[in-house]
Amino acid sequence: MNEYINDEFYLTDDAPSGGRERQIYFIEKMKLLLNEKREAEGKRPTYAVETFGCQMNFHDSEKLCGILTEIGFEEAPSEEADIVIFNTCTIRENANQKLYGHLGRLKKKRLDDPDMIIGICGCMMQEPDEIENIRNKYKYVDLVFGTFNFHRLAELLWRHIDTGEQIIEVEREFKEQVEDLPSLRKYGFKSGLNIMYGCNNFCTYCIVPYVRGRERSRAPESVLREARALSHDGVTEIMLLGQNVNSYGTNFIEDSEIIMSDPTYGFPKLLRDVAEIKGIERVRFMTSHPKDMSDELLYVIKSNEKISRHIHLPLQSGSDKILKRMNRHYTREGYLRLVDKIYTLIPDASLTTDIIVGFPGETEEDFLDTLSVVESSGYDQAFTFIYSPRTGTPAASYEDAVSEDVIKDRFARLLEVVNSKAEERTGRFKGMILDVIPEEKDEAMEGFITGKTNYNTTVHFRGDESLIGKVVKVRMDQCRGFYYTGTLI
Ligand code: 5AD
Ligand code: SF4
Repeated sequence: MNEYINDEFYLTDDAPSGGRERQIYFIEKMKLLLNEKREAEGKRPTYAVETFGCQMNFHDSEKLCGILTEIGFEEAPSEEADIVIFNTCTIRENANQKLYGHLGRLKKKRLDDPDMIIGICGCMMQEPDEIENIRNKYKYVDLVFGTFNFHRLAELLWRHIDTGEQIIEVEREFKEQVEDLPSLRKYGFKSGLNIMYGCNNFCTYCIVPYVRGRERSRAPESVLREARALSHDGVTEIMLLGQNVNSYGTNFIEDSEIIMSDPTYGFPKLLRDVAEIKGIERVRFMTSHPKDMSDELLYVIKSNEKISRHIHLPLQSGSDKILKRMNRHYTREGYLRLVDKIYTLIPDASLTTDIIVGFPGETEEDFLDTLSVVESSGYDQAFTFIYSPRTGTPAASYEDAVSEDVIKDRFARLLEVVNSKAEERTGRFKGMILDVIPEEKDEAMEGFITGKTNYNTTVHFRGDESLIGKVVKVRMDQCRGFYYTGTLI
């Protein structure tokens, strides 16, 4: 779907035809416009970007904030801003409901202020029903764009201001990749870095492949160039982002075309190459799919101190029957063998996971299979979700739904096991001296800062803000469930 007929650009005829140049052109145009407005009104217009969902969305939002800042907007502390953008999530139904709550609260302000702009973008906007809903019932929303074109924010803003109309531009699939536009990091010392986009796995419950498109990897040179630039800019910690980082390099995007891969350059090599960049102290990655986790990757992690010893390895279910119905391509035994291998090679590794409760057809026996994997896998943390049917996914038409009461009961039982096991496992660091990167001032305790170990464990300790982003040694004194209090050495 492309709602905006764009064969001939009508604003001026010297707009570049596409890619980064075109967006820079519109950023510049918007800059001029905003400057005029600022001079007329004597104040700098403000923006707020509200993000729902995963790390990927938060990283995308940094790009939206970068473009808005470059144009001349200033960040507002709340949604009381001249432009408010919602970067949406649709992984579960409650994510969708969240958006409508926010829109309802902004309606009066928007209707009272004709200059205010409300934009919605991201995963939820890739769903045709949601667009229809916005078009019919939320006419006061000014901009709607999806996951494939958020780099076009400046151009879409220009169009809206120029025409005064609601602009809806949602692409059905990947069309052009534009990197190297401005970005505004939430943290100065750490950054996400997209190494791939989309997903090809089609787990039967999951909407991601429909809203983020087919899997495509960024060429290594492009990733490494960005990593070097980040390091140059003071970043010490990089989080490599992809829906399934273990299949990085199956194909590459080059000049917005998808080309065949170099089979010799996969995720383990990329991880090692990023870790070798001068100034980079820690490399993390998210998310791994158990079916594609290679031995080579585990050896790279084991042999490189800069690579985080934290592996997020979504289990989803511990029952073979349910795993098959979920289209996960591994068995309970296969998963347990992999966990075993990880602990054999990297005994203190930190494992975290995602689990879905109440997938259609899940019996008590299937659920007990999940519980037993949690009991034996030694997760540092597990994120638990109640199954939410998503329109268009195969599982949404499965008829053997589990009753709400049963789901509630299982969810509570799972949480209990997850919490007690996680606390037990996290306790292994007690008394150890670990490398920690302080992240921020501790809001709750005066004179304290909060940091993360290479195992992604949070630790609070007395220290100065000037240490933020640097590697320091901290003794892990007291384990308090999921976090520690410690002492700077
Ligand atoms: N219902 C519940 N949880 C889901 N997830 C993905 N899709 C659904 C759904 N339809 C969970 C999975 C995934 C995490 C990001 O969200 O556990 O790993
Ligand atoms: Fe969704 Fe499965 Fe892809 Fe993860 S691997 S994004 S759960 S389809």
